[in-house]
Amino acid sequence: MILIEFWGDLKNFAQGETRAIFEGEGAFYEIVDDNYPVMVIDVKKWEPLKRAGFIRFVSKFLASGDSIPKIDLNLEDFAVRARRYDPSGLKSDFVEREIGRMVRGKVNLTSPKNVVRVAISKRIHIGILLYDFLQDKFEERKGSNLPISYPITMHPRFARALINLARLKRGNKIMDPFCGTGSILVEAGLMGMRVYGSDIDERMIFASKKNISKFGVHAELNVMDVGEISGSYDAVVTDPPYGRSSSSKGEKIESLYGRAFKKFSELVDKVAIVLPSKRAMEIGKKYFELREFYPVRVHKSLTRYYCYFAR
Ligand SMILES: C[S@@+](CC[C@H](N)C(=O)[O-])C[C@H]1O[C@@H](n2cnc3c(N)ncnc32)[C@H](O)[C@@H]1O
Repeated sequence: MILIEFWGDLKNFAQGETRAIFEGEGAFYEIVDDNYPVMVIDVKKWEPLKRAGFIRFVSKFLASGDSIPKIDLNLEDFAVRARRYDPSGLKSDFVEREIGRMVRGKVNLTSPKNVVRVAISKRIHIGILLYDFLQDKFEERKGSNLPISYPITMHPRFARALINLARLKRGNKIMDPFCGTGSILVEAGLMGMRVYGSDIDERMIFASKKNISKFGVHAELNVMDVGEISGSYDAVVTDPPYGRSSSSKGEKIESLYGRAFKKFSELVDKVAIVLPSKRAMEIGKKYFELREFYPVRVHKSLTRYYCYFAR
């Protein structure tokens, strides 16, 4: 059993991403405790979760309780790290001390071999850290740290979550036909996918090439209109123009989405895409079944919908 501590406050999207990763890998899983931002899941192979965008920590589950659970642990070298997610919960330094007393072994706060994670939410959950997502260095790949970025550049965590919605396995082929500065391509490459991208704007393909090479990702890239893409892929994962800061080259957005979805329906069975409205989703529904969508409010007049369409 594992204990997940999610990142951010997008409950439905974060949980949807986790389900999608297991489903993509064909892993059987059962949610044992849903206490956002914490979740306890019964699953044999947790490693596919390493490619998540919206997880902070994954730990081996030890115990949960309404108050501090009793544990009996023998760890040669350890630190206890607690995080309070619920402001009405117990203070984290108090919980760390109490739990530290129940663990036999040497306390090592600087470079512990074992980290006992404690998530203080409505309940208190304890685990031993398996994976800290800080090592994935998302911040190093956000727009301001890329060789070339534009305001349209997608944050790597969101790019990952979008890719994961498409329920893919490592090694699958993905196509981003509106690749812009390449954020989806970079993340997909780092997640072990085979990556293809195109964009109508030559400057964007130049930017994508620079950005992906910084992270050692290889992708086949072409300057072309979405209507010209061809080939066979496991999914289209993309972030088309939404009629504001990003340009659709003078074409009405509805017409562009209509052409794009028609083309996707000729090439793939799965599409993970960001859309700016429910009206845009209706266009996709002419060609695919809308399986799930997650609204993310950007500002007062813009909500972006992260959608998964399939057949
Ligand atoms: C929202 S941006 C993509 C941003 C990208 N996810 C990133 O992180 O940089 C949309 C992209 O679609 C491209 N585009 C616009 N019309 C297109 C068309 N007809 N065919 C292909 N690409 C198009 C634009 O040049 C722009 O780069």
